[in-house]
Amino acid sequence: MTSDKRFITALFFLSLISFVMKKIVVSAPGKIHLSGEHAVVYGKPAVVVSTSKRMYVTLETSNSPAKNDDSQVVLSNLRRKDAYINEILKIIETKYKIPLSDSLLITINSDIVRSCGMGSSAALAVALIGAVLLYIGQPWNRQIINELAFQAEKFKHGNASGSDPTIVTHGGLLWYRKELDFLKTFWLLPFKIPKNFAPFLLINTGRVENTGELVKAVRKRKELDKPGFTSLITRIEEVTRGMTGAIHDEDEIDFRDSIQENERLLEQLGVVSISVKQLVRKIESIGGVAKISGAGGIKSGSGVVLAVHEDPKVLMDISQKFNFPYFQAIFGGEGVKIEQIVT
Ligand code: PMV
Repeated sequence: MTSDKRFITALFFLSLISFVMKKIVVSAPGKIHLSGEHAVVYGKPAVVVSTSKRMYVTLETSNSPAKNDDSQVVLSNLRRKDAYINEILKIIETKYKIPLSDSLLITINSDIVRSCGMGSSAALAVALIGAVLLYIGQPWNRQIINELAFQAEKFKHGNASGSDPTIVTHGGLLWYRKELDFLKTFWLLPFKIPKNFAPFLLINTGRVENTGELVKAVRKRKELDKPGFTSLITRIEEVTRGMTGAIHDEDEIDFRDSIQENERLLEQLGVVSISVKQLVRKIESIGGVAKISGAGGIKSGSGVVLAVHEDPKVLMDISQKFNFPYFQAIFGGEGVKIEQIVT
């Protein structure tokens, strides 16, 4: 078949599918890096956990009943304004050689805090890819969703490891390692963070840099002192392994020590800002531990900080004093999920 004929056939099938499919809702969770962020870009392992915070993407055909809700927009208008969404759709159109309908409607709802290391851009890619693949009649396949989301992640952040789309796709507690761009290995750990560990508080210290800029800053740090950098990420690898063992063995003391050491190593990598170092020292001075999670931040805040203390109230008081909002989330949320299909 010529490529023109293939295109026309694809268009025909697409109009058939969109005729039967009126509404699709797909959701994906946010995430927290427990250990290994940045080092994972250089082939070291990371341990990452999904959260109960989620992103919901709804696709509706234009013949479905209109909503009195201005969060619903025409997808083709949105992609013109949003380069990331446009790239996600282009990746799908290129792979499946199918142009997406101009009149498709989209609604995005999320309770994942944006731009602070909680995985909101990965959740958007994963949920949108999941919804569009269903819309174009593809079978539900997590591996493909993850692979396409990884391509989108590289467009957004440059040299991404793929740990974000993988945890967001699969959910749970994940051991992840990128050997090569085409060889990424992961293990969905068959255990959870023990319930008897003290609860976490997530403190949003904000950040002005994006992940790509912070990954670049770390690369510069590497160029300046390669042996020092290698020993830093090797130590991070040991901490990641130790932390995973501590979760498995339900050893809270070791777990907390790993959080504290991981924070110190991330500070040495240069991705923790002055105000966040002060916040962490304050938490440590009252017997708690805390670490940044994700890419961090240098000039203002460093994104979300994972803080642990027997009494979360004292952490809340400290966050308030520093003027940082805080929240709690359950760890280990389900991965990408079909919420609704209306035909
Ligand atoms: O974008 P963030 O803040 O969730 O950070 C992602 C983790 C990094 O290791 C910094 C980058 C990557 O691709 O793994």
